[in-house]
This record gives sequence, C-alpha cells and structure tokens, in this order.
Amino acid sequence: MQIISKGLTYTYNKKSEFKKTALNGVDLSINEGEFFGIVGETGSGKSTFIQHLNGLIPVQNGELTVGDFNLSPKDKKEKKALKKRFKELRSKVGMVFQYPEYQLFAETVYEDVAFGVKNFHPELSESEVETKVKKAIETVGLNYEEVKGKSPFDLSGGQKRRVAIAGILVSEPEILVLDEPVAGLDPIGKKRLMSLLHTLHDTGVVKTIIIVSHDMDEISENVSRVALFSQGRAVKVCTPKELFLSGDDAVKRLGLPVTAYVEDKLSKIGIEINSNFKTKDFIDKVIEKYREIKG
Ligand SMILES: Nc1ncnc2c1ncn2[C@@H]1O[C@H](COP(=O)(O)OP(=O)(O)O)[C@@H](O)[C@H]1O
Ligand SMILES: [Mg+2]
Repeated sequence: MQIISKGLTYTYNKKSEFKKTALNGVDLSINEGEFFGIVGETGSGKSTFIQHLNGLIPVQNGELTVGDFNLSPKDKKEKKALKKRFKELRSKVGMVFQYPEYQLFAETVYEDVAFGVKNFHPELSESEVETKVKKAIETVGLNYEEVKGKSPFDLSGGQKRRVAIAGILVSEPEILVLDEPVAGLDPIGKKRLMSLLHTLHDTGVVKTIIIVSHDMDEISENVSRVALFSQGRAVKVCTPKELFLSGDDAVKRLGLPVTAYVEDKLSKIGIEINSNFKTKDFIDKVIEKYREIKG
C-alpha cells in the first residue's frame, strides 16, 4: 500500500480562539516496502501527520490515500465507502504510539494481545484467536508459554513494549507506524528493538515501516529514506546521507549522527571518508583510508 499525501493541512480546535495549525500542506509519498523515517523538531507536525494514516485524525483539507483507501472523501458516496472500510483500514495500518506500554491494560499478556484480534475479528473461535496471539507474541521475540499468563506489569520495559507491538501485529498490518519506538529504552534495549523491526521488515511480516525519531544516529543507521518536517510541512524528502549533508538550518538544530560529525572533522584535515554514515560502512571506509595512507 502506497501512501500519497498532497497538500494535507490540519488545524486543531479549528473553531475556537485557541486554534493551532499543525499541518500546513504536507506533500509526501511513501512507497510500499520502504523503511521510512520522519524527523523534525517538536511541534513540527510529525505525530499529527502519522495519526492521519489510519484515520485517527480525519482529513480536514488536502488529499490523502493509503493503498486503495481514500482518506479524503469528497462527497457522500466516498464518505460512506470510507466509513464502511474503517475497521479494515485500522487493521492494515498499525499504529504504535510513544511509550505504547502505558496502554497495556489487561490482566495477562495473552488477554492484552487477544484484544486486538477479537476487536478486528469477532467471528473467530477462541482457538483461532489463540493461534494468532501465539504467533504475534513469538514474532516479537518473546516466549509464549513463559509470558502468556503473566501480568504485563511484571515484564521489563523492553518486554512490555514488545507486548504492545504484538497487540498491533496481531491484526496483520501491512504498514507499521511507530512514534519514537526506542524512546526510554537502554542502549541494548534500543538495539534489540530496532533489530526486531528490521526482522519484521526483512521477513515480510509487515511490508512498510515508518518510524518517527529524534535520534539522528537511529535514522542514519536504519532508514532508507527520510522526511524532514518543519512547521507543518515535509520540507525535505531524501536519503539520510543527503539530509545530513544538506547544511539546512533545521537539520543542524536536530544534530548529526556521530559518523557524519567525525567525517566532517576528518574532512577538515584533508581526509575524505565518504561513507553513507552507517556505522559499518563508515568503519570499513576508515580502515580502507588508513591502509591507503599507510601505503
Ligand atoms: N491535541 C492537540 N490540541 C491542540 N494542539 C495540538 C494538539 N496536538 C498537537 N498540537 C499542536 O500541533 C502542533 C504539531 O504537533 P505534533 O503533531 O504533536 O508535532 P510533533 O509530533 O512533531 O512534536 C504543535 O504546535 C502542537 O502544540
Ligand atoms: Mg510527536
């Protein structure tokens, strides 16, 4: 499912004196199969934009399509068509909010994950539900037998977050959108969760992944394309490398990945590395350069 946004605008509290324009004409296409990043300063509209993708926030102005879902219906007929397929949209576009573990509520991990299936597929028998729950819990790298009867609150932070993600995956979304997926985890937890997302993507469990992130190392390491949001617009859509070399003021305020920073310093003393800023490529190129200089 491809995402196409054209001139998307959104104003909170539109009719009140407290109105606040959050999106100011977002033009952005995200292709099926991408591992895509969204970056930008706080308040630039990232969360407002992604919440449009599964209809949590209805389109006010502009056009938005997700696969064959028209999220900006123009007439009664189109509105009716969207309403009819709303549940399907919600299941196809999985949304993982910031700190999703805060939304765990059931007494057991099993019940929490099962909630998603029962919600989207009330027709399934308990054993069919169990098959799906087991699969989702194993997909996020947890031991089903070990965790199914536990209270989510007895799990570690990283495990809780996995349970929350399992609760989204259980509806078998094609697109998975995650707002700051590794925020608040320790460095190892961060690495493991990012690696889980890559596994989901590489094995086709989900076709498209979109992450919102503040962390430029995480962006340069993980995504193939990135959109920079500023004042309610996607002002740049490019590769991470292009973003970090752009010299744009908004980019400078966000900071650079360590690799880009070091490359810049080395360049100033005449050593050109020219990696794609991913750690592995950067190290390979530094070694290559070292050998060249050493002769
Ligand atoms: N529920 C809301 N009510 C009013 N204004 C909001 C609400 N949510 C966000 N905003 C405002 O909309 C703008 C964009 O916010 P948001 O989409 O959350 O940005 P980001 O995720 O990039 O930090 C900000 O100015 C923010 O204060
Ligand atoms: Mg946000």
